[in-house]
Amino acid sequence: MATLGIDIGGSGVKGAPVDTDAGDLLAERYRVPTPQPSDVTSVVEAVAEVAAQFDDFDRVGITFPGVVVDGVTRTAANVDKSWLDAPAAHLFTERLGKPVTVLNDADAAGAAEVAFGAGRDQRGLIMMLTFGTGIGSALFLDGVLIPNTEFGHLELDGKDAELRASDRARETEDMSWEKWAGRVEGYLRHVEMLLSPRLFIIGGGVSKKSDKFFPLIDIRTPMVPATLLNNAGIIGAAVAAHQADAPAPAQV
Ligand code: BGC
Repeated sequence: MATLGIDIGGSGVKGAPVDTDAGDLLAERYRVPTPQPSDVTSVVEAVAEVAAQFDDFDRVGITFPGVVVDGVTRTAANVDKSWLDAPAAHLFTERLGKPVTVLNDADAAGAAEVAFGAGRDQRGLIMMLTFGTGIGSALFLDGVLIPNTEFGHLELDGKDAELRASDRARETEDMSWEKWAGRVEGYLRHVEMLLSPRLFIIGGGVSKKSDKFFPLIDIRTPMVPATLLNNAGIIGAAVAAHQADAPAPAQV
């Protein structure tokens, strides 16, 4: 049976059943707007509405736009504060009646890109950054995720970086591509100084428009747009749920 992936984003909650071996959606995804306010009860209901569109799945992976440790959501930068220390995996499991794995949204998107997309077959330290409502980060060493990094909250020009360089900042401040790319460049230079990754994978909805801002960014680290685009979170969430459910390999 299939695994359902659900991605909780700043504007939409999207889901679809996923072929976790191929990294493909098995059906067209279904989307509902993210409730406002995005409190725990409303978002759990939105997720249930998405899940109700599909049958024939036996487990669910769900992304969350904050730190998630052992199924508990620990931060809530861009969602309602009722998520602070909420037992998210438990709440979703109760509501959906299926085992649920919850993980950070950028970690999920990065895991999908590393397995099936722009980071495939890449060794060494790879960093996925998603530019959307906030800035999400995911770090991989030889394909293995180091979860819950929060490099979107580095300080840039005396402010939280995501308030200056997220795609939402570009839209709300009505920035030109040149101006925004300048901020993203400053941010990426700071990150490459701290971590020296081999590759940046740039995701989030704005990565579809990479031709508008990639040529304006001058950094040392190679940089590629995400290839799974809108579906990376859904696919990565499903893969994480599939792995969580897989029997542990035999000890030798
Ligand atoms: C959160 C991260 C999240 C990112 C993208 C940030 O504000 O702290 O956990 O990955 O937004 O949604």
